[in-house]
Amino acid sequence: MNAQEPDFIHTTRASYDAMASDYAAHLPDALATRPLDRALVTAFGDLVRANGPAPVADLGCGHGHVTARLHDLGVPVFGVDVSPRMVALARRTHPELRFHVGTMTALDLPPETLGGIAALYSITHVPEEHLTTVFAEFHRVLAPGGHALVAFETGDDDEVRVTERFGHEMALDHYFHAPDTIMAHLMKAGLSVHARTFLEPDADGTRQRAFLLARKQGDGD
Ligand SMILES: C[S@@+](CC[C@H](N)C(=O)[O-])C[C@H]1O[C@@H](n2cnc3c(N)ncnc32)[C@H](O)[C@@H]1O
Repeated sequence: MNAQEPDFIHTTRASYDAMASDYAAHLPDALATRPLDRALVTAFGDLVRANGPAPVADLGCGHGHVTARLHDLGVPVFGVDVSPRMVALARRTHPELRFHVGTMTALDLPPETLGGIAALYSITHVPEEHLTTVFAEFHRVLAPGGHALVAFETGDDDEVRVTERFGHEMALDHYFHAPDTIMAHLMKAGLSVHARTFLEPDADGTRQRAFLLARKQGDGD
């Protein structure tokens, strides 16, 4: 553990490391069974491809199924995840793609190099007081005109601690951010939100989900 690392990063990594194989086996490709999510990821792929060949980062990529979907759409994409075991699984499942261990709170990427950022269901593990850092990082690494797709289960900025999953003990916090909270953070970071889509709760207990599409101002804007 890095001495300067906040506790939530450490506990998130430990939790996903513990359950990596079970998580991937349980949810191998959520996009395959969620046509609306798939459509939004496809629209994001179209937007970034229209902007040019700059790479796209899938932040909190898990076992890499969204990364692979974007790759299949012709997007030059790589994945980043805080859990080394999730990254190992992603590399094993998709050996043709690049995956790195890293955290969206301090991206090991040069400024203004990405054509897009996909972050699906990963900010759920970031407490609100760290969102300013996360979205400042998004803004720093996006090239002018770059797009961000941020998806999350919504709430009233409430939080739930999961202490067990797939038989593994953990202390994994889920932060159910309010859409207005995320909108405000994106705008504060200098990103403009140009689409908001809400998918209503599923019968399986999944909460309402929000997909926000944001963009960094382009040179020609
Ligand atoms: C709920 S899973 C979602 C995985 C994938 N994006 C998907 O849609 O299926 C959340 C993932 O985000 C990763 N994650 C959480 N916090 C992160 C952070 N600060 N930086 C990078 N990855 C993070 C976790 O390790 C986990 O793999």
